[in-house]
Amino acid sequence: MLKLEDIEYHPSTSEKPILRGISLDANKGQPLIISGPSGSGKTTLIEVISGLVTQSKGTIYCDNEELKGRQRRAISGVVFQFPERHFIGMTVAHELRLGHRRLPGELQSEVLTRVGLGSIDISELPEKLSGGQQRRLAIAVQLIRRPKILLLDEPTAGLDWSIREEILKLIKQLSREQYMVIVTHEPETFASWNIRSYQLDKQILNPAI
Ligand SMILES: Nc1ncnc2c1ncn2[C@@H]1O[C@H](COP(=O)(O)OP(=O)(O)OP(=O)(O)O)[C@@H](O)[C@H]1O
Ligand SMILES: [Mg+2]
Repeated sequence: MLKLEDIEYHPSTSEKPILRGISLDANKGQPLIISGPSGSGKTTLIEVISGLVTQSKGTIYCDNEELKGRQRRAISGVVFQFPERHFIGMTVAHELRLGHRRLPGELQSEVLTRVGLGSIDISELPEKLSGGQQRRLAIAVQLIRRPKILLLDEPTAGLDWSIREEILKLIKQLSREQYMVIVTHEPETFASWNIRSYQLDKQILNPAI
């Protein structure tokens, strides 16, 4: 289980805490879905869980072990909003290899297959892929790190309706295999999944569904 206990985040650059009193948990097959209006702290929560910033208060556990920021960074894969805007690889293969001293070919093909890109040309420029394929590649870039927790910030933002459905199907599949945190300003997108979602609003957390 991934568990957040009474998390507060109050950076010195902010007058008030951005996050306060957040206690939540997630399991494989039961991703954490968090919604809230713009500015409610969704992206900040992803940064805290993944250890990119450190909470001011509270504890995060994974599989009953308390994890400090550095440990969380090691086991988290974060797909930020519009991830394809940040591709810098010259080819799909290069994009996947960035930051890895050595990338076994089997791992690369396994991950591409998992995200539904098993048959693409990996010598192609990432920008040449379709919108849906680019989103899949961004997820693959994180899966290559074999994260225990996959965190997705607005994973379907900016996609055409039919592509959104495809990406949602992929995310649902992946959520059965690992811990997942999804933040969105459109919780209705996930309504058919029939799992609880939470609303971050003025630092009050309510079960939404
Ligand atoms: N380090 C920081 N110092 C001061 N304020 C911050 C800091 N980080 C975030 N904030 C503020 O915290 C609030 C929450 O920001 P955040 O980006 O997490 O919201 P969000 O819910 O992801 O919004 P959106 O839906 O627009 O992406 C915002 O008002 C933001 O300006
Ligand atoms: Mg955000």
